[in-house]
Amino acid sequence: MTTTGQAVQAIRNFSIIAHIDHGKTTLTDCFLKVTRSVTDLQFRERMMDSNPIEQERGITIKLAPVRMNYTKDGKEYILNLIDTPGHVDFGYEVSRSLAAGEGALLVVDATQGIQAQTLSNYEQARALGLTVIPVINKIDLPSAETDRVVLEIMELCNCEETDIIHVSAKTGLNVEAVLHAIIDKVPPPKGEIEAPLRALLITSHFDVHQGAIALVRIVDGILTREKLALCASQESFLPLSVGVFNPVMEEKKSLSVGEVGYIASGLKDVRSLKVGDTITQAKHMKVVERLDGFKEPQPMVFMDVYPTDSADFTILQEAVEKLVLKDAALTHSGTHSAALGSGLRMGFLGILHAEIVLERLQREWNVSIIATAPSVTYHVTVQTGEVLEISSPAQMPDPTVIRGVTEPIASVRIITPIQYMSSILDIIRERRGEYERSAYVGERTQLFCSVPLSELITDFHDVLKSITSGFASLEYSVTDYKPVSAVKVTILLNNEEVEPLSFITVTDGADEKGRAMVKKLKEVLPRQMFEVPIQAAIGGKVIARETLKAYRKDVTAKLYGGDVTRRKKLLSKQAKGKKKMKQIGRVSLDQNVFMSVLKR
Ligand code: GTP
Repeated sequence: MTTTGQAVQAIRNFSIIAHIDHGKTTLTDCFLKVTRSVTDLQFRERMMDSNPIEQERGITIKLAPVRMNYTKDGKEYILNLIDTPGHVDFGYEVSRSLAAGEGALLVVDATQGIQAQTLSNYEQARALGLTVIPVINKIDLPSAETDRVVLEIMELCNCEETDIIHVSAKTGLNVEAVLHAIIDKVPPPKGEIEAPLRALLITSHFDVHQGAIALVRIVDGILTREKLALCASQESFLPLSVGVFNPVMEEKKSLSVGEVGYIASGLKDVRSLKVGDTITQAKHMKVVERLDGFKEPQPMVFMDVYPTDSADFTILQEAVEKLVLKDAALTHSGTHSAALGSGLRMGFLGILHAEIVLERLQREWNVSIIATAPSVTYHVTVQTGEVLEISSPAQMPDPTVIRGVTEPIASVRIITPIQYMSSILDIIRERRGEYERSAYVGERTQLFCSVPLSELITDFHDVLKSITSGFASLEYSVTDYKPVSAVKVTILLNNEEVEPLSFITVTDGADEKGRAMVKKLKEVLPRQMFEVPIQAAIGGKVIARETLKAYRKDVTAKLYGGDVTRRKKLLSKQAKGKKKMKQIGRVSLDQNVFMSVLKR
């Protein structure tokens, strides 16, 4: 189908929003089958998850687009679906896919009901003025509580029972009814076909053959293979090809108003394609009005990453540079530690993002790594009045020069069955959080609170899941910075600082954490040929100390009887040897020691 002004009427751009695991990807697979966008032969489950870790873990990390053709009442339609990730770490991807369409399917699991992510995504969709079509999925399951979930959705969306489509993405039940609702309810895109090209850059990825590839939504005009320009960077390029995702890339002569497709830019660095930028013809670059962009993803969690074998640093560096080309949300810079040699300080969107990146490094590049405990970014005001952004204990200035510290605070939304409220409030208090308010979602409670990000990125989610038997869901975003009394606890082995083991923590309880770390180290460190003091200190003050006893080889064992001079001689030789080792010998710390200490 060619896209003329009239054909715009046949386009529907939509995304699916849902809480993690509620069935977006399975439903997308159904759409692909029903619209015959892929043949049965080509079909494999989780078609849209391209990365092996996405396939294996069953989670979507990056938004992915697909174009489907579908005929209803004898009329052909183009349905552009943008699949989105469900996990909180990748929330910024959701906002972008929503901005690419006019409608959104709100998919709710019939066994779970509305969850935290469902609500925040729904609110974003409403704020963008999208048409929302509610869908209840997994109605085939015996544990489905369809009636309860219908009531929850009616209350949330202020809709009639008949507006909610009941489906099973597993069996394919009612999947076509969803496609019909999209055609009937989601409006076709608007835009001026005669105007200069304005394409919104939604996301990008890197292809070894075609360079940086932009996923775009054509807002005005027509995109062809002529010289194009990026309005933010003022960089121009001649595209290698333009086309659509079917779901694999399929070249087209042109893309017109309302269409979603790709531009293979041929540019070597994916960072040139700034998400949210406007792409136009090079000749119109100076005159065209730029589209509203998106908020840039901000790394929230930082770790220092070292190769287990220092000789592998170049491999690690190359691997990370390649990953950064594909993943614009990942940041990195060089760092060095006396104990572990050269390493990289890496910034991630959240803990899941970090886990996935570290797993890819080890799996795809075969580098064994040691990663320090995750840290957030503190704002530290020093005596001169300068404010430093500190995202690693190694950067923390001496306590004597610090005037004040602020830490990132997250606004948290938790949805839970009411009986778990008091245990949840307990963990919020324990984690220095503050309760704000609560509201009902059907028979469950929606709880709003603020919690320091540093407390959320450890095991908050796991604890929440375990105390609520998996029934509570969580969603958060960083909204504020607040003063905190925080200190760096330095860990010393044999009087030398081991930076990767040092950490930043709140002053209250810092002694306790220091003692725990020192004790744990004593348990896991292998004995050395000499005595090793293990200390925790704040500034110059030692707050905890343990001693790892040396192996003492009984050099006098063979001497029976009383040759005192010989005995003394042997002992003094041993003492000298030990002294030498203390001076020159380094405590050997292997990866297992780090792993067991850093694991929380
Ligand atoms: P993320 O990509 O992680 O956000 O998850 P998702 O929302 O895409 O969920 P996904 O499609 O991966 O489905 C989660 C699990 O639910 C999978 O094991 C699916 O097989 C299962 N599932 C999805 N839809 C249905 C359904 O209608 N019925 C049943 N019984 N299972 C379903």
